[in-house]
Amino acid sequence: MARHLITSAIPYINGIKHLGNLVGSQLPADLYARYLRARGHEVMFLCATDEHGTPAELAAAKAGKPVAEYCAEMHEVQAEIAKGFRLSFDHFGRSSSDQNKQLTQHFAKVLDDQGLIAEVSETQMYSHADGRYLPDRYIEGTCPNCGFEDARGDQCDNCTKQLDPVDLINPRSTISGSTDLEMRETKHLYLRQSQMKDQLDAWIDSKKDWPVLTTSIAKKWLHDGDGLQDRGITRDLDWGVPVQKGDAPWPGMEGKVFYVWFDAPIEYIACAQEWVDAGKGDDWARWWRTDKGAEDVTYTQFMGKDNVPFHTLSFPSTILGSGEPWKLVDYIKSFNYLNYDGGQFSTSRGRGVFMDQALEILPSDYWRWWLLSNVPESSDSEFTWDSFQQGVNKDLADVLGNFASRVTKFCRSKFSEAVPAGKPRGAREDQLVNDLTAKLREYEAHMETIEIRKAAASLRAAWVLGNEYLQEVAPWSTFKTDPEQAAMQIGLALNLIRLYAVISAPFIPDAAKELREAMQSDDDSWPSDVAAALEILPQGHAFTVPDVTFRKITDAEREEWQERFAGTRA
Ligand code: 2FM
Ligand code: ZN
Repeated sequence: MARHLITSAIPYINGIKHLGNLVGSQLPADLYARYLRARGHEVMFLCATDEHGTPAELAAAKAGKPVAEYCAEMHEVQAEIAKGFRLSFDHFGRSSSDQNKQLTQHFAKVLDDQGLIAEVSETQMYSHADGRYLPDRYIEGTCPNCGFEDARGDQCDNCTKQLDPVDLINPRSTISGSTDLEMRETKHLYLRQSQMKDQLDAWIDSKKDWPVLTTSIAKKWLHDGDGLQDRGITRDLDWGVPVQKGDAPWPGMEGKVFYVWFDAPIEYIACAQEWVDAGKGDDWARWWRTDKGAEDVTYTQFMGKDNVPFHTLSFPSTILGSGEPWKLVDYIKSFNYLNYDGGQFSTSRGRGVFMDQALEILPSDYWRWWLLSNVPESSDSEFTWDSFQQGVNKDLADVLGNFASRVTKFCRSKFSEAVPAGKPRGAREDQLVNDLTAKLREYEAHMETIEIRKAAASLRAAWVLGNEYLQEVAPWSTFKTDPEQAAMQIGLALNLIRLYAVISAPFIPDAAKELREAMQSDDDSWPSDVAAALEILPQGHAFTVPDVTFRKITDAEREEWQERFAGTRA
């Protein structure tokens, strides 16, 4: 048994996330956490809401609420929806917590002690119309790197380049739209990442097994142009962690807060402290401090590609630069984008399907299966209603659901609702065990290396093996001439349903639970030995016929949903 720390990029508080957000971090992280738990490992799976910075302020202003109140409400909304998708966080924290405030101020102090903080006088965009500075997302304009016209002041969504508001071409205020902007002098703290360049470079070089997407983005920011730049870590905003050196004031920094991207990843650690303070555990340090037991923890992060620079360069600079024994990430799994029906998912434009809407239409497993089996791993992928309908109908309804339904109904009608007494198993059954064993080992290997599409394909292939077996041995025909032979075949198939429930649970936890409950078995041990696992339900073991585990999506529904989600959400 090993110990695994898993974090998902923490979603911004500014509204309900769309399916593109979900598939780019929280959902694959949940899959991995569930798989590792199923294999008997000790797992700490953390996520939180990212509550500071301009996204929060802008959304609260739009909702006409004080920002703290808005964040508290939206945190509950996101937590509820996460439950709806069965995201199995050990804790879902808040970056605005006291724990994170203290830890962020602590890191700022130790980084300063290590000589890694510079006080820099710089020009910031000041808006006359708005009477305030316009950091980050308060400003939009054309990206100087790729020409994208709606680039935000902190980052271009199109080419992922991290930006400074002053870099934008044709800048405008996102509050008032005003272009009456002036560059004004103000003082800010900078994290001297450039000092850490060689250390970061060597560290990334040592990660031979990281996905190319992760290392290529990191390397680009390390080596392109003038190389790794120092990063401003404070802002002229009201909402955020006040700039302090630990408990002490920071002269000259009064009224400023830390940049949201400085405190957000620190919340990964603070979240474990919140977990303790919520009474869910008693030792966060054994997950996060290598001097307190975390040296044997494997830490894996999940995120979309736009988050990679912050996790490969900025946050490691904080951790390494502190000189303190904090746990550093071991593996960064990053994702491309999921597009929506010929365009992009967009929170600001309300384009696509949002998590709450998805759950109104269909149970979470339908979404989990399609999203995970089409996760944008090696390139961007696209959600279309057609592909969704096919994935659900073919994989879930026709293959897995149909298998469970046929087997249980046949048994009930010809024998009873119990595993029937049959003949000994023969060569065809041995072959099935061998084929399943090979498929399962393949599935496990893909899960270990977090190759999710391949894992989904192996799982599906395991379901198909059961269908092929059934088709070939045709117990409904055998029954007419040799009922005991049919009884053996159906007894094996009932055992297969339980086995499928166990191995499918990381992908489709609700259906898996339903199938295992129908098989009236508490045994959810991993089928390391397939032959033995297929003996777990003995002759005479009672079961029930499950309700329709997966229903098909009709053409009429597909068309209706396509139409309903073609526009933008208010
Ligand atoms: O891109 C986003 O949604 C950010 N809120 C992710 C932050 S991840 C982290 F560093 F905390
Ligand atoms: Zn760009």
